[in-house]
Amino acid sequence: MAIKPGHHEYDYSSWEDEKIYEKAYKASLKNPSEFWNKYVDDISWKRKPQTSYSNKWLDGGVSNVCYNCVDRHALSTPDKPAIIWHGDEYGERREISYEALRKMVQKIAAILKSYGVKKGDVVGIYLPMIPEAIASMLACARIGAIHLVVFAGFSSEALKYRLTKSNAKAIITVNSFKRGGKRIDLQQNIICNINIINLDDVTISDNMNTDIEWQNSDDDLFVLYTSGSSGKPKGVLHSALPYMLYVATTFKIIFGIRIDDVYFCTSDIGWITGHSYITYAPLFHGLTTVIFSGSPTYPNADRYWQIIEQEKVSIFYTAPTAIRSLQMFNKKFVKKHDLSSLRVLGSVGEPINKSAWKWYFETVGNKRCPIMDTWWQTETGGIILAPLRNLNQNPGLAGKPFFGVEIDIIDGELVIKNKFPGLCKSIISDNSYTSNAFYNTGDGAVYEGSDIKIKGRMDDVINISGHRLGTAEFECAINKIDEVKEVAVVAVPDELKGQTAFAYIVPIVSNIDPEILVKKIINSTRATIGSIAKPDYIAIVPDLPKTRSGKIVRKLLRDIANGIETPSELHSVVNPEVIEDVKSSVNNPIFCPDMCKLP
Ligand code: PRX
Repeated sequence: MAIKPGHHEYDYSSWEDEKIYEKAYKASLKNPSEFWNKYVDDISWKRKPQTSYSNKWLDGGVSNVCYNCVDRHALSTPDKPAIIWHGDEYGERREISYEALRKMVQKIAAILKSYGVKKGDVVGIYLPMIPEAIASMLACARIGAIHLVVFAGFSSEALKYRLTKSNAKAIITVNSFKRGGKRIDLQQNIICNINIINLDDVTISDNMNTDIEWQNSDDDLFVLYTSGSSGKPKGVLHSALPYMLYVATTFKIIFGIRIDDVYFCTSDIGWITGHSYITYAPLFHGLTTVIFSGSPTYPNADRYWQIIEQEKVSIFYTAPTAIRSLQMFNKKFVKKHDLSSLRVLGSVGEPINKSAWKWYFETVGNKRCPIMDTWWQTETGGIILAPLRNLNQNPGLAGKPFFGVEIDIIDGELVIKNKFPGLCKSIISDNSYTSNAFYNTGDGAVYEGSDIKIKGRMDDVINISGHRLGTAEFECAINKIDEVKEVAVVAVPDELKGQTAFAYIVPIVSNIDPEILVKKIINSTRATIGSIAKPDYIAIVPDLPKTRSGKIVRKLLRDIANGIETPSELHSVVNPEVIEDVKSSVNNPIFCPDMCKLP
């Protein structure tokens, strides 16, 4: 059955057929607000805006994100599962209907209110992938509070930084959780002075009612931290209603959703994918969203496939690192499950290499399911590029721009030339970012025919297993070590994780014990950033190449670590004698692998 209201036939074919797409895309650029006007009616309004854009998106409109994702479905389909949760062990399963979700959200919203949280306050959420995590986000949206989700793998220091920078009033957490058979403590990581709402021991009656706080087009929904090229993570602020319009519409058209779809995305609410395409888009449309808080390889490497079979998942959305790591296991883990319910497969977070694409298409999708290789960012809120949803796809190409989004490639960089509803409102403490005429994505790209190929980041961001980390964030963490005089971190390719961090270290004394130094480096990056962050390669060098003004020539160091025969920027080095030392240490770096952390 198709999704409401009216334009579904057009929605489906416009992202399937090249000719229909081209025509629709051209029309959408000629008049973007006309395109968006068609989808304004998908939202249930308290007061409908006259048009999708005048001065700003949805100007004059009044609605509420939680109402659209929960209450209206609790009225029309109360018993339909909104969330199906699978836990760490086989058989651990919870099903939360739309009505049960409404109650859960009401309860958390009431708790927040009892702590004095009001519209516009920031509330931290530091939770594993449990239904209550989604309900907490929605509870914030219900009362107009701004949620700040911090990935449960981030350290206490990283958490403290985010909470204090955004002036959070309270934090929702649990004592601990289990993943991959291990217990992980959470609450003990909260080391700042803040109201802690611990969902393990909340006592409040089940039938609490909290009034909906109606949101205007200017009101905010959430802040989410991500990495840029500076040493500190940056807080990306998204508005409530325009963001909801963008993620709901991209989801509907790009994935070609149907009302009876069972949708499973393996991301975590700690990342933008978990915000836009686990929580908001599927619930907005009243679908069932399947979540998983365990490890894909625990107890066996068939957890995703077992869940797909059991829940009859029709749309599955995951990351290339997960695909590559599961590809390493015997095909029998996939083949012992009936995956015939699948209709569409998705990939997000990093470039998907041809071998992973082929395995995903053939072994998982049985050559029946298109692969939606979606390119987007925390800043864009929702998908910007995706291939058309058919079986003539070209592996490795991120495809076409979404309707109403005008893109270009300028000096090799993908830029967005117009305003679209998903673009973040601001970056905390850096408003220059989105006030420019163009939005510079920081990703290199080229056209291949009429499709776009993404080449990866052009700045100092490292994409490790689809997680964005800044080289400068690593450097800040390593610089804290007394024995380290200087450090430079660069990205190198990694077969499994896509990229990994390579650290050049200049120690204070030359006879330092490398084993002790490496331990200190790993401890410091883990404590400062979290368990997902650690350089895999460490090269101990006597000095680093510098410019006349004393700046480290990072591009040269990146080229050398990447084995480029004729590295760039040699001419700007004032101490060329160090280059041979750098090269020989790169030929023999200290390798410190770990168990891959899946996204
Ligand atoms: O470099 C691009 C890469 O991930 C970056 C955005 O990271 P983040 O804000 O954490 O959001 C990830 C989930 C949307 C981009 O600048 N990236 C994301 N998707 C793709 C990708 N690179 C290649 N292909 C993709 N499909």
